[in-house]
Amino acid sequence: MHRMKRKKIADLLSSPEVGSTVLIKGWVRAFRSNRFIQVNDGSTINNIQAVVDFENFDEQLLKRVTTASAVAITGELVESQGAGQAVEIQVSEIEILGDANPDEVQKTVMQPKRHSMEFLREQAHLRFRTNTFGAVFRIRHAVAYAIHKFFNDEGFYYLHTPIVTGSDAEGAGEMFRVTNLDPVNPPMNEDGEVDYKQDFFGKAVNLTVSGQLEAELGALALGQVYTFGPTFRAENSNTSRHLAEFWMIEPEVAFNDLKDNMDLTENFLKYISSYVLENCADDLQFLSDKEEKEQQQKPANERNEMNLVERLKFVVENEFKRLTYTEAIDVLRNSKAYKKKKFQYDVEWGVDLQSEHERYLVEKEFKCPVILSDYPAKIKAFYMRQNDDGKTVAAMDVLFPGIGEIVGGSQREERLDVLKSKMADFNIPEEELWWYLDTRKFGTVPHAGFGLGFERMIMFVTGMTNIRDVIPFPRTPQNAEF
Ligand code: 4AD
Ligand code: MG
Repeated sequence: MHRMKRKKIADLLSSPEVGSTVLIKGWVRAFRSNRFIQVNDGSTINNIQAVVDFENFDEQLLKRVTTASAVAITGELVESQGAGQAVEIQVSEIEILGDANPDEVQKTVMQPKRHSMEFLREQAHLRFRTNTFGAVFRIRHAVAYAIHKFFNDEGFYYLHTPIVTGSDAEGAGEMFRVTNLDPVNPPMNEDGEVDYKQDFFGKAVNLTVSGQLEAELGALALGQVYTFGPTFRAENSNTSRHLAEFWMIEPEVAFNDLKDNMDLTENFLKYISSYVLENCADDLQFLSDKEEKEQQQKPANERNEMNLVERLKFVVENEFKRLTYTEAIDVLRNSKAYKKKKFQYDVEWGVDLQSEHERYLVEKEFKCPVILSDYPAKIKAFYMRQNDDGKTVAAMDVLFPGIGEIVGGSQREERLDVLKSKMADFNIPEEELWWYLDTRKFGTVPHAGFGLGFERMIMFVTGMTNIRDVIPFPRTPQNAEF
């Protein structure tokens, strides 16, 4: 017998051939009135309805058609009699591919009812089966693709920077050590410290916090490169915006200055937002509607002014507000919130802005994405270019509504002598970064780049409010299950 090829539900629904016989495979979302089976196969948020005449089927077989079970269904695609769908399948054959015990399903995210995000998070292995997480992870994929497309179309090269590295690019010392020494009896040196010379790489190494320093080497030969990979930070921040393992995109461009860097960032973030609007309509609409429903439960003054779709359009259509750190400090100190002592942390020139300050600027003061630039040298990394005032560096942070910092970047210090004295100030030994310093000796040029936190961007385009809900398997302090 001729074997039929499975049709994906997304394809069936987007160009339905009424009258044709089709085979679908997927998981049962619901089976109502012993007649209507809702099947989802992950290709779209939409289910297909399969209609059975129960007289024609074995009772024992139909009993196994339960929520979460896997089925193969063959039948004729017909125009739907009921409301809610244009087409449905008139079932001629059902095969159970995998049973699901209804008692077990009752205890999981797969039972068809609303669940709290916390409950869903405990079942990260099953939450993919829900509408919300299906939508989030289809969008996450689309954004990853859009990022590669953007850079490819702009003539960038994708550079794979190492995950195991000896350098702490950001200088924050929040790294995970990688070693295969015996943890009980590690070899010791004469100073009574662990002797990493005897470790696998002959030195102490860590998981990378950023691919930037290596990307700079690429940019200073290939012109424009970007990285897109996992990064690791052992910072003990249990917030809704921090992960210990997250993905970062880091473009680096030779001959760009800070202004070029801001322009690239703004175009890039607009491109991603418009890509999602154009290519993820069903999933986006689902998440937007869901958010609006949740907003109805809140007091009027706590609701979002725009829904998710409107927020994405707003980013695409409006210019980002650009101002310096120094100007932002003035704005904050002159704000009502400051005068009424609404901020938990003090605001004065030289301090790092807290998330409450960033969100005030974006959500209350300017009501649009903000690019802050020219921060005090002391609160930023060693590689940022010293400005002529001697106090600030050519840094930039992009702040987004509901998120806070989404991008951090800078023009890099290309002058060897200035870079060396900066490293001395920050206690970074030159021997460790000899290869980085070399780039400033052989045809050094101005260059700039930035890092986009991939998960923070996914939070923005999905409206999810906890970063743990936009990465398939979150790693946070005390949590590395699955
Ligand atoms: O501001 P950061 O630390 O900048 C860098 O790492 C530079 N090397 C980037 C560059 O210039 N090439 O991190 C960049 C972005 C942040 O703006 C934030 O969006 C995200 O990475 N990020 C995190 N996302 C999730 N969890 C964390 N713990 C994060 N830390 C930073
Ligand atoms: Mg930063």
